[in-house]
Amino acid sequence: MKRSYVIGIHQSVVQEQWVHAWEEQLGQPIRSFVRAQLIDTKEGACTVVPYATEEEEGVIYFVGRGRKNDLTTKRVRPLFATVGKRAKERNDENMYVVADSFTSSEGLDDDWIDVATEGFLLGQYTVPTYETTNNAPDYELKSFVFHGAERQGEIGRVKAEAVNWARTLVNEPPNVLTATRLVEEATQLAHKHRFELEILDREALEDIGAGALLAVNQGSVEPPYLIVLKYRVDDTWDDVIGLVGKGITYDTGGYSLKPKASMATMKGDMGGAAAVLGAMDIVGATRPNRNVIAVIATTDNMISGEAIKPDDVITSLSGKTIEILNTDAEGRLVLADAVTYAKQEGADAIVDVATLTGGVITALGYDKTGTLTNDATFYESFERAAEDEDEFVWRLPLTEADRRRIRTSDVADVNNSPGRDGHMIFGGGFVGEFVGETPWIHVDIAGTSWASNAHALGPKGGTGAIVRTLARFVERATIRPTKRNE
Ligand code: BES
Ligand code: MN
Ligand code: ZN
Repeated sequence: MKRSYVIGIHQSVVQEQWVHAWEEQLGQPIRSFVRAQLIDTKEGACTVVPYATEEEEGVIYFVGRGRKNDLTTKRVRPLFATVGKRAKERNDENMYVVADSFTSSEGLDDDWIDVATEGFLLGQYTVPTYETTNNAPDYELKSFVFHGAERQGEIGRVKAEAVNWARTLVNEPPNVLTATRLVEEATQLAHKHRFELEILDREALEDIGAGALLAVNQGSVEPPYLIVLKYRVDDTWDDVIGLVGKGITYDTGGYSLKPKASMATMKGDMGGAAAVLGAMDIVGATRPNRNVIAVIATTDNMISGEAIKPDDVITSLSGKTIEILNTDAEGRLVLADAVTYAKQEGADAIVDVATLTGGVITALGYDKTGTLTNDATFYESFERAAEDEDEFVWRLPLTEADRRRIRTSDVADVNNSPGRDGHMIFGGGFVGEFVGETPWIHVDIAGTSWASNAHALGPKGGTGAIVRTLARFVERATIRPTKRNE
C-alpha cells in the first residue's frame, strides 16, 4: 500500500519531540529540511517530498503551520483543504496524518480532528461535469487516518459530505436539477435517515390553496412541489424548529426579465433548499435532541402565456393577498407559502434560507450572509452557531417603517416589491409578514452560496454555505416564549 503522510511544520519544529521518531520512521532529515528552508512553513503552504523505507514508499505532505502556536481549530480547515485538493490532483488515496505534528499548537481544541477531516474533504470537492473529453483519473479516497489520535474525524466527514452534496445540488444544470429531481433527492435523504416525508404536488397545492407557490410556477412546464421532512426525537412534537428553503431551480425573472448577464448562474437559486437538505443530512446522522421540520418550496420561474405578470393579485396559503409588482421577486412568494405551511405543521420557530436578493450582495459582498430576525434572543444562538462554524453572518435591521412599505398596496394586503432602496430588507421582511409572532430568522445567502472563483475551501460554483451553521444551530437553539407572550 502506498501511504502518504501529512505532517505539520513550523520554524521551531526542530525542538519538538515527535520529530526524531518520524525522521527515523520515514528516513528523511525533517529538521535539516526546515533549517535549509526546503520546506515552506508559512501557514497554509504545502510541500510534497518523497520518502522510501524498506516497507513502503510514497510522499510526505509538509503543511505550513505558520508560527509555533498560531494554529487554531478554525485555521485548520483551510489548511487541510489545501492538502485535500493536492492529494486528489496527485491521486494519493491513502492519507496518514501525524497528529502529534499538529497538537503541539496550544490553539487547537478537541474538535480539531473533525475540522481537519472536514477541511480535507471540502478541499477534495470537484464539480460534477458532463465533459466527454474529461480524462481526470477516477479518484477514490481509501483512507484518511490520524496516527496517534484517540479518535477519528467521523463528524467532520458527515459535515463535509453534507456540504459537498449541497454544492452538487447547486452545481447541477437546471435542466437536470428540476423540482422533480429535487423531490427525488429529498426522498432519498428521507429514506437514508428515516425522516417522515410528505410531497405536495400541484393537485395537493391547489387543494390547500398554496396560491403563491402556484403563481410562480404558472409560466412553467415543470411541476411545482412543496417538500416536507420531519425529524422526530420521540412521540412528542413540541419545540419544533422549522427550516424553510427557497428552491427556485431556475430564475429567469419571469416577465420582469433579468438582463442576460444576471441570468447566468441562476441555476443556483435553489441554494436555500440545498442548504436545508444538507443540514438535514447532518441532523439525520447526528440525531440531536430537537424536533425539526424542513419545508422546501420548489419550482422554476419562467415565462409563457400563462405566467404571472406585474399588476396581478394572488392569494397565498395564509389567505393574505399579494400584489405582484415584480415577477423577479419570486423567492419571497414561494417562501410565504412555505413558512405558512411550516407553521401549520407545528413549527415553533422558523429559519428561512434563500438566495433572495442582489441587495444583500450590494450591502455585504460575497463573503457575508445577511440576516434579519424578529427575536434578538433567539438570534443569539444562531450567531454563535455561525461563529463556531466560521461562517460570517451579519444582521440587518427590519423596522416598522419597512413593514409599512411592504403592507402598502391599493389592491392587496401586501406588495412583493416596495423599492430598490435597502431591498434585502424588503425581501426578508416580506417573508416575515407570513411568519407573524413566531421567533424567526431570515438568512439571505444570495452572495455566499455561489463562488465565482475557486476559494480556500473549494472550487468555483456552489459553496454549501450555511449548511454547517444550520445543523449546529438545530443542536443548540433555545426557543423561548417571545416577549409578546409573557
Ligand atoms: N434570485 C434572485 C436574487 C439573486 C441575485 C440571487 C443575485 C443570487 C444572485 C431573486 O429572485 C431576485 O431576482 N431578486 C431581485 C428582487 C427585486 C426584483 C426586488 C433582486 O435582488 O434584484
Ligand atoms: Mn428573482
Ligand atoms: Zn430568485
